[in-house]
Amino acid sequence: MFFVGDLDNAGVNRSPSAYLFNPPDERARYPRDVDTLMILLKFVDATSQKSIGAFTWFATHGTSMSKDNTLVSGDNKGAAARFFEDWFTSTSTNSTTFNTQDDISVLINKASEIKATGGQPCGQTSSQGFKVRKNDGGSRFVGAFCQSNVGDVSPNVLGAFCIDTGLPCDFNHSSCNGNDQLCIGRGPGYPDEIKSTKIIGERQFHKAVELFTSAKEQLTGKIDYRHVYLNFTNIKVTLAGNKTAKTCPAALGPGFAAGTTDGPGAFGFQQGDTKINEFWKRVRDFLKKPSDYQVDCQKPKPVLLSTGEMFFPYAWAPAIVPIQILRIGKLVILSVPGEFTTMSGRRLRESVKQTLITNGNGEFDNDTHVVIAGLTNTYSQYIATPEEYKQQRYEGASTLYGPHTLSAYIQEFNKLAESMAKGRKIVPKGPSPPDLSSVQLKLLPDPSGDSPPPGVKFGNMKHDVSIPKSGSFQKGDKPSAVFWSPNPRYDLLTEGTYAVVEMLQGEKWIPAYDDDDFSLFFKWNIDNGSSYGLASLEWEVPDSASNGVYRFRHFGSSKKTIGSTTEYFTGASSAFAVS
Ligand SMILES: *[C@@H]1O[C@H](CO)[C@@H](O)[C@H](O)[C@H]1NC(C)=O
Ligand SMILES: *[C@@H]1O[C@H](CO)[C@@H](O)[C@H](O)[C@H]1NC(C)=O
Ligand SMILES: *[C@@H]1O[C@H](CO)[C@@H](O)[C@H](O)[C@H]1NC(C)=O
Ligand SMILES: *[C@@H]1O[C@H](CO)[C@@H](O)[C@H](O)[C@H]1NC(C)=O
Ligand SMILES: *[C@@H]1O[C@H](CO)[C@@H](O)[C@H](O)[C@H]1NC(C)=O
Repeated sequence: MFFVGDLDNAGVNRSPSAYLFNPPDERARYPRDVDTLMILLKFVDATSQKSIGAFTWFATHGTSMSKDNTLVSGDNKGAAARFFEDWFTSTSTNSTTFNTQDDISVLINKASEIKATGGQPCGQTSSQGFKVRKNDGGSRFVGAFCQSNVGDVSPNVLGAFCIDTGLPCDFNHSSCNGNDQLCIGRGPGYPDEIKSTKIIGERQFHKAVELFTSAKEQLTGKIDYRHVYLNFTNIKVTLAGNKTAKTCPAALGPGFAAGTTDGPGAFGFQQGDTKINEFWKRVRDFLKKPSDYQVDCQKPKPVLLSTGEMFFPYAWAPAIVPIQILRIGKLVILSVPGEFTTMSGRRLRESVKQTLITNGNGEFDNDTHVVIAGLTNTYSQYIATPEEYKQQRYEGASTLYGPHTLSAYIQEFNKLAESMAKGRKIVPKGPSPPDLSSVQLKLLPDPSGDSPPPGVKFGNMKHDVSIPKSGSFQKGDKPSAVFWSPNPRYDLLTEGTYAVVEMLQGEKWIPAYDDDDFSLFFKWNIDNGSSYGLASLEWEVPDSASNGVYRFRHFGSSKKTIGSTTEYFTGASSAFAVS
């Protein structure tokens, strides 16, 4: 089943000056410079009639967390997915709420008797048993928050401001007196970016719930697909008026190096730069002097990095990229290997829809929904319209295959759409992309071996939970505990968890929050005094937490030296009361 609706406060255009380069009559057809449509596809088990999942597509960048964040995070899409899956699980079972009616003083007394366990050995997969939401068939509901034509859409919806003056940045360059590093986008939780992530996640989650509960219309009709690989470095494109042009080998302009208001770049570049100074030209030519053909082909982009002409130790940019159309009845999904800007996405969707209607013999009509699935199958950076390309902001400067990149996508997608509409089966599969998986460079060395300080075991406490004067924590408080802990990269504990908040139920400890939960933070640091590793677990007691007795549990793994076997451990803090 599927349903569509509008979500108007989860994205803004971060390159509005480039959007204004698009023709006025085209812009006049749309209320805003970003798409607000969210499309939801709901999956229902045919036998049991139970919902088993939902996909949504909505265009907004996962950049609520800035580049200063060092925690592993799914950003606003990940937050929305977790909120949605938790919502579905709690509305469908009702059994996950803990109801402890005990008197507060009883809780405080009980908590004070339970001390930290100290570090103990455990199995490689032990932590998987402590996941709150396991992938073991219990609650299998999947809430996926997919990307769409996100190229110029920022979740930092309050706009971009200069951090020195607080004034809006330069409109055309997103800089402050020529310095792009001072111009930063603000999320709705500004200055708290974790709060911004949560709010943008919640907005997508709330809209998804609304669409999910309204989705009654069953998708019927054909299931079909077309897929092809294309060498995008020299596609011949037929433009309006029968003129022809070509795409180019990949290249990046200086606007790419400038970054965006979601994360500025470095070295003094600005978005919208159409010139490169002599110094950077010399640096560029040292790496790879772009060919005359490339310089001409990419105009008006000045070539800063001719990645399509750089092959050491392997190609710096993809040449062969896949495009794909999937059809479920009247829903048509376009899988694009990059980030289409808002207007690029509109042009592609509308053109493909027209091609389907024209060639479909009544099978497609105005009711056909075309959705762009962004950043799929491979990644080839951005796709701006030829008009936006003229301004060479970040998105235009990152449009790899030259000014006619979008026109080439539209042309090639229309070939697939025509084949699908006419029911022609086979499209040639195209050239195969090279498999580089065995030659990938890895710049991050493995951890070199870890031991705890003398007389201590990994999983022992460095700082146990410090109990407030009142004896218990309240909603919104942040209890924390610090464990001696090796580098977490020995084993990423996939399908498991580094951190758990457990709740005492009778005589048993039950996991209540894990490290995938928005309220629980797992931070690893080197102890400044001793240079041994420390894991800090911090829990922001959520409003929904029940009164009760809780404790922290930590999982980790270590190797004594690079060659030795991996050892696994766990440890729990002292207990504390929440009232
Ligand atoms: C931005 O650039 C355009 C030309 O591309 C110019 O017309 C406009 O005045 C500039 N706006 C500002 C605020 O500088
Ligand atoms: C793509 O096409 C170009 C131009 O025809 C060719 O030189 C290049 O080798 C092709 N790339 C790959 C990866 O096949
Ligand atoms: C474009 O070229 C094709 C074939 O070369 C021709 O059939 C068509 O009439 C031309 N269209 C225009 C608008 O010139
Ligand atoms: C096609 O559908 C759109 C909305 O999806 C609507 O605005 C438009 O009027 C429809 N056009 C026709 C010709 O029915
Ligand atoms: C070590 O010192 C830095 C800088 O003072 C501080 O930010 C960091 O939190 C400290 N690490 C630990 C584990 O205390």
